Amino acid sequence: MLPTPEITDIDYDKVYEPAEDSFLLLDCFEEEKEYLQKRFTSSVPIVTEIGAGSGIVTTFLQRNILQKSIFMCTDVNPHACTTILNTVKTNNVKTGEEKIPYIVDSFQMDRTTAIRSQSIDVLVFNPPYVPAEDVPKIPTTYDDSTWLDLALLGGEDGMVTTWKVLDNLDQILSTNKGVAYILFCARNKPDSVADKMKSRGWDVKTIIHRKAGWEVLSVLRFTRI
Ligand SMILES: C[S@@+](CC[C@H](N)C(=O)[O-])C[C@H]1O[C@@H](n2cnc3c(N)ncnc32)[C@H](O)[C@@H]1O
Repeated sequence: MLPTPEITDIDYDKVYEPAEDSFLLLDCFEEEKEYLQKRFTSSVPIVTEIGAGSGIVTTFLQRNILQKSIFMCTDVNPHACTTILNTVKTNNVKTGEEKIPYIVDSFQMDRTTAIRSQSIDVLVFNPPYVPAEDVPKIPTTYDDSTWLDLALLGGEDGMVTTWKVLDNLDQILSTNKGVAYILFCARNKPDSVADKMKSRGWDVKTIIHRKAGWEVLSVLRFTRI
């Protein structure tokens, strides 16, 4: 079993605390290790986690799966953007083991809107997937107490933010080897999402699914056919 990153000094009133969904993604990437390493054996991929939160998933990827990569994380929450970098740093200096050089940065933005099109090789997104009346408004000040609300509430079917990513996937992923991993709960209707994306020319595969409390969570992998 690959080591789980250490998470320290995080204010969970402001930044999403790693939970079942985060850990499902870690298990997903443990299963996908060989596939990803083979896919990018002769190149340095650009890896983007949208909504990286505490940084646990990006750090896991950087430490265990895609060591020779450039990581450009995004989060709409500015507190998360600082936390991501702290988590990466903590996990890269905590032991006396051989130091892996790393390139990781975080950017405050909505999804991947400021990243040049068709440049991301590996996209990861654990979105705000809980069905709700609306997606919360993005706060306008750093000290606003509602940043954390953006982590969970996903509007109609919990899919409003996820569809914005899926609808733009062709513009986001690199044309050659681009691959996306997106997490869904059952109420997001992942089977009908998969059918719709297949009809748009995507290959969609369920990599992992698991009952987590009262939810069933799954991670789907999207590649161009
Ligand atoms: C469910 S949490 C996942 C956090 C982390 N990736 C994990 O797996 O533990 C969702 C994250 O997405 C961020 N987020 C929500 N809407 C976003 C958007 N439109 N653009 C970028 N990040 C967003 C939230 O701030 C939060 O950090």
